[in-house]
This record gives sequence, C-alpha cells and structure tokens, in this order.
Amino acid sequence: MVQIQKIILSAVLAVGLLPVSARADLPVYLDRSKPIEERVEDALSRMTLEEKVALCHAQSKFSSAGVRRLGIPEVWLSDGPHGVRAEFNWDNWDYANWTNDACTVFPALTALAATWNPELSALYGKSVGEEARYREKDILLGPGVNISRTPLNGRNFEYMGEDPYLTGEMAVPYIQELQKNGVAACVKHFALNNQEKWRDNVNVKVSDRALYEIYLPAFKRAVQEGKAWSVMGAYNRVWDEHCCHNARLLNDILRGEWGFDGAVVSDWGATHDTKQAALNGLDIEMGSYTDGLATESMYGYDAFYLATPYLEMIKRGEIPESTVDDKARNILRLIFRTAMNTDKPFGSMTTPEHYAAAKQVAVEAIVLLKNNGLLPLDPAKYDNVLVVGENAVRILSDGGGSSELKAKDMFTPLEAIRETYGNGVKFAEGYRTGRPFFGWEEIIPDEILDSLHNEAVELAKKADVVIYIGGLNKNGFQECESTDRREYNLPWNQDKLIEDLVAVNPNLVVANISGNAYAMPWVDKVPAILQSWYLGTMIGPSMADVISGKANPSGKLPFSFPKRLEDNGAHHFGEISYPGIEIPGKGPQQEYLEDIFVGYRWHDTKKIPALFPFGHGLSYTTFKYGKAALSSKEMSDNGTITVTVPVINTGDVDGKETVQLYIQDEKSSLPRPVKELKGFRKIHLAPGQTTEVSFSITPDDLKFFDDSKHEWIAEPGKFKAMIGASSTDIRSTVRFSYK
Ligand code: GLC
Repeated sequence: MVQIQKIILSAVLAVGLLPVSARADLPVYLDRSKPIEERVEDALSRMTLEEKVALCHAQSKFSSAGVRRLGIPEVWLSDGPHGVRAEFNWDNWDYANWTNDACTVFPALTALAATWNPELSALYGKSVGEEARYREKDILLGPGVNISRTPLNGRNFEYMGEDPYLTGEMAVPYIQELQKNGVAACVKHFALNNQEKWRDNVNVKVSDRALYEIYLPAFKRAVQEGKAWSVMGAYNRVWDEHCCHNARLLNDILRGEWGFDGAVVSDWGATHDTKQAALNGLDIEMGSYTDGLATESMYGYDAFYLATPYLEMIKRGEIPESTVDDKARNILRLIFRTAMNTDKPFGSMTTPEHYAAAKQVAVEAIVLLKNNGLLPLDPAKYDNVLVVGENAVRILSDGGGSSELKAKDMFTPLEAIRETYGNGVKFAEGYRTGRPFFGWEEIIPDEILDSLHNEAVELAKKADVVIYIGGLNKNGFQECESTDRREYNLPWNQDKLIEDLVAVNPNLVVANISGNAYAMPWVDKVPAILQSWYLGTMIGPSMADVISGKANPSGKLPFSFPKRLEDNGAHHFGEISYPGIEIPGKGPQQEYLEDIFVGYRWHDTKKIPALFPFGHGLSYTTFKYGKAALSSKEMSDNGTITVTVPVINTGDVDGKETVQLYIQDEKSSLPRPVKELKGFRKIHLAPGQTTEVSFSITPDDLKFFDDSKHEWIAEPGKFKAMIGASSTDIRSTVRFSYK
C-alpha cells in the first residue's frame, strides 16, 4: 500500500511543481511565468469600476481591499520601522491582544545610522523583513528617511540623522533586503516632515536647492537604488498642497523625475480632497478614522475620499476613469510583488538569529563621546556599582506613537549590568517620568521627584562607580509622534541630578538613551559619556558589553550635538523657521531659512563649534591616519580619481573605525557648505594592524543643485578631499582640480 501512496504523492507533487505556464487554463494575471506588466493589464481588464475604486482606500485600520472575485488578496500593512507592530482591531485603535504577535524589537533607525555600517543595514532589513513576512504583512511602514533638521523633532529617533548621504547609504540596503521577503518597504514621510508640531497642516517653504540637496536625496536613492515598492505621503503641506496629493512631489518628482513604479500610500488621515487625490498621485488612502479624517463615521471606510465620493465623481464624468486605472495598476503591481509573490520565503520571528542581529546593530550603534580613561569598567575591578536612572529599567519600546512595539523580550540595562557585575549592583531610579501617553504626559509630583533624587545622591556616595542611564523617552513631548520636545535640556531635572551625582562621586559614567541631541551643562565635570539609543530587545546586553569592555564602541554620531539650541540652524531665524507661525485662514506657515546649511553644514559654515560634531565617536583603542594620496591631481569630465589613506590601530585592543570622506568646493558660483560627506568606510583592525582605505571620487561628488537651471552641476575649479574621523577631526587633506 505504501508504495502506491508514494507513487500518488510524487505524481501530485510533480503536477504541483510544474511551471505554471504548463497549465494552459490559467488566466494571464495568475500565470507567474508571464511578465508582471502583462499580469497587471490582464487583471485590470477583468475588474469592474467598483473593484478598482475599492483597491484605493482602507478597508480596516491596516488593510486595503483586494479583488475577492478574482482571487486577488487584500493588502496588509504594518508599522515599522523597528519591528512588526502588534495586531490592531479591524475598526478601532485598540490592540487586538493577540498572543502570538510579540516581536523582536530592533534598534531605532537613528541607532542603525550611528553604526555607519551598510552591511548591518542589510542584515537589519533582512531580519525585520522575515518577521513581517511571518506575520503575513505585505507592506512594512518604513524606513523613515526624513532629515533631522531640529533636535526638537519628536520623531528623529525613527530617522537616520542630518546628512542625506549617510541616510541614503543606510536606507538602501534595509529596503533591498526587506523586499527580498516579498514585503514592500514604504519609505516615509514624503516629504519635508521634519517636525511633529502642526505636522498635519504646516505649510513648509523651502528653496529648491535645499529640497534637492538635503531633503530629497535619501528618498530618491530609496526609490532608484532601493527600488522601494511603496512610498508614504507625509501629513504636512508644501507649496500650499498636502503632500499626499501634491502634483509636484508625486507626479513631477517621484514618478516623473525618478521613475517610481510603486504605490503611494497616504499617511493615516493625511488625505483631504477627492479630486486632488485622484489627479495628483495618491494610490491608497489610509485613515486614522473611518471617515478618513478625525472622527468615526457610521459609513465606515466608504466615506473615505478615494471611496464612494471618488466612485460617484467618476460615474458623473467629473474625474476620468483613467485615474483609477493608473492607481489600480500601481496597486496590482504591488500585490504581485508581495501578497501574490509565490516565490517569497515563509519568514521567521523572534529567532536567535534576529536577536543576534539586533544585538550586533545595537553594539555598533553606541557612541563613545568622551572618556578620560574611566571606561571600560573591568568587572574584575568593580563590585560596588550603582546604576541610576529610569532608563535602566524602562521598557522603551512602549510609546513613541506608531513605532511602538510589543516586545517578546526586553533585556534591560540594569538586568544586563547585574549579569556582568554581579547582583551586588545597586539601583536608584533618580527620577520618574510617568506612563508613555500618545501626545500628552503624566506629571509626577515634585515630592516624589525630590525623594528619588536625594536617594540616588546618597547611594552614590557609597559606590565605587556610578553608571547613569537617563536621557529621553517615548513620552508625549519627548520622543513621540505628534509632539515635539519643548526644551533642549534633559527633562525631569536630570541635569541637576547628574551634577549632584558627580559632585559626590567623580567616577560617573553617563550612558544616556535618546534619539536626539540634548544639552550637557555638566559635560566638563563628567569623565565618561556614552550616547546610547532606543536599542530594543538587546539594549541591556549591548550596553553592558560596551561599558564592561567586552565590546569596543564603534558608533559615530549621525547628527550634531549643538551646545545650545540656538547654535542649530533651524533655531537661528526665529519662529518662522521653527516651529512656524499660524496665519489666520492659512494655517501654520514655516520657512526653512537655514536653507542647505543643515546640521554640520551650519556649524562649519557659521563657525559655531558643536559640543560633539557629526561623525564623532571614540574607541577604546586609537587609530592613526597616514597621509592621503591621490591617483591623480586632475579630474576630467568623465574621470574618477581615487584617494587612499593608510590607517593603523595604534592601541592594544581590536577596534572598528569609520573613515569619512568630505569634499570641499573651494570656489563656487553659488554658496556651498564648507564640506559635505561623500563617502565612508567602516574598518576593523587588530592592534598594530594597518589597512589602506580608498575612495573613488567622480564628478557627481562635486556637484551642487543649481535651482535656476534645475540641474546638478560640477563647476571647474579646485576641490579638497578631506579624510576625517569625524566632520571636524580631519586627519588628512589633498587638493585636486576638476577640468
Ligand atoms: C502614523 C505615522 C506613520 C504610521 C501610520 C500608521 O500617523 O505618521 O508613520 O506608519 O500613522 O500607524
């Protein structure tokens, strides 16, 4: 009997494995052997007008319709970008409380950027993509690539810093690897969503130079190199039109100039007009509430702008049906790439491999800002350790808005430090911040704060060493969607606490956790400072490894740390520049008056030293850079020159270093920053080991955007290639001429 069963089974398998083209009865749109565009056209030709319109708007909080009659599945979306968010109810903003949707919490994207390691970005995208695939999501709502213009932006922790080149370099591998799982990246928030205050309506005014040199490049690379299958329109306005139906952004730039062939998804509740949405590039309208705006409606999702109103306008001939055909094409293409991609892997979730990947990113993200030799703290030498600070125990994946995640595990810094230094490690909260409410905050009574403060200072007097783990968190008005920070200093009286701690115990390590820069009035009194991030599941083990020296820190800052807020370009020009000014009848208006001089570009050009500069990060070892050498001092029009620099590990432990290439245009017809990041390479050297780091420089690296000609141009003249360990720690400079 068994033999016959085996024969039947192998026959069934054989038929199942036949290339689908061998089954002539299959309609083209289901035939995987056919080119995707043929399948799209065939599916479209079979659809009714109602079915096409149904594709273009949400059917639940996180899904949009497929075409049931044709066996075309619905589209499931999920936040991102640091992991796969827990399941929501179909029709309200309550979690469904599933028992199988806890995830790996990967480090925030600012931390990923701080690794300056594109290989880790690829590993990250692969890992989070496997979790999204396993949860059967077709679109992961990330990565966010908005530029960090102000350190008050409540969502900078979801983005990759102040430089478009670093952001692009770190976003592309994430997208490429994520999408190999048959899950679409959804690059967000397109565009100019650089703050949370008034995010749903602020009208941003920006020069075309700043738009093309600073705010668009990472999106462009995500589309053209990352091949992102979807893009999310932002809430705000630019040129007086909401981004989710902005003709210039979506039709002219995204599709016209960049050739984007994916689907444009609105941010939730960011659509405001049917005709605009129909004509100006939006494909899928997602919504915060069932009327697409801000309140529940009895009509459900049919009340959305691209639902019944759209259908009726087409039927009345007020909008051409061709508009919905174009949207349906983009959505079908996305479905064939994801839900109907039968080659996609099965995915996996909260595996040891994903935890290892999360830890690798976390360890390489931590930045050693300052060290007078106190770090690393050898566990063999320290058994009387005090840990102070709520962030040592807080579950920082809670809160922050849409990026919040249900962690399967969260190994806190205190747990990991106790595992490293023994259970004799004492803990004092030092301050308390309340629960992470979306958009508002819980106020803790002063008497509680005072007692926590005094208790920590008393305990610090008796400890051999104090590790302070404070910073910001995901509360409203801290680092949370829909609100910006109110101040640049650390909240909850932490500056005073740090000053009081170091006054009673000079052996203080500050290891703050944040997604933004902040003031450090105590910087000269504290012997060692680590910048840690929202590192997710493995935050504890990664911080403990770096503090103890088991891991050598190799992170570099993806944004500048201004000494004072007014040293930052966005805060130099008054309220019109940030947060904008409310104009009756026109809503909040804002002008990016610092123009292209964002971040280190501002600090360099205005000669305002940052407290810690872009690209800064120390190590437990030291690196010596030799003299840079050029393959040629002349660059022709289509030429490439190579700059090479030897780097040696002159210390006594293994270490990683990110060698950075900045280019300076010595003389230009338009104002340019002193220098701009055009390359970086992360190297790993054993003690005494030397390596040669090379960068190729092409005319593209010399270009600036001439908005009067609407083109990128490289002007003949003298240029400098500056090799640095940070944007201000330039170790070698060579000059060359172009043309
Ligand atoms: C939010 C966010 C966006 C998120 C979406 C779904 O408002 O702006 O980043 O992906 O809604 O939660």
